[in-house]
Amino acid sequence: MRVDKEKLVSAALAARKNAYAPYSGYGVGAAVLTASGEIFTGVNVENASFGMTICAERAAIISAVSQGHVKFAALAVAVGGDDPAAPCGACRQVMEEFFDQETKIFLVNSRGEGKERTVEQLLPEAFSKANM
Ligand code: THU
Repeated sequence: MRVDKEKLVSAALAARKNAYAPYSGYGVGAAVLTASGEIFTGVNVENASFGMTICAERAAIISAVSQGHVKFAALAVAVGGDDPAAPCGACRQVMEEFFDQETKIFLVNSRGEGKERTVEQLLPEAFSKANM
């Protein structure tokens, strides 16, 4: 599956505008590309009960899974400022569930610049279904 990085990064940056982050002020947007070529987006959704906060990456992945997609070609995660996004540990574990070595992960800043990683790089020696 051909990955249009620019399109996916644009979708993550656009989604970020809807981030609900009144407590941290740190908006995050994410966009996943399914193996069938569809894009699903997500944002971080904070809550006054801080522990209920949902990250953008999980929101995007869960939206896609909810529509029946469990294979992914790529994910883009966008944040504000100069430093590219850095997914939290919980999101890395959820990526591990659905991503493989071919799944491209683009971590970008407010200008869409950043780095590309694989889930193996983000979460080495991960616990997964292969362990059970
Ligand atoms: N956040 C994400 O959405 N994704 C991450 O991987 C890191 C953190 C959100 C959660 C919270 O709303 C804010 O960023 C600050 O932690």
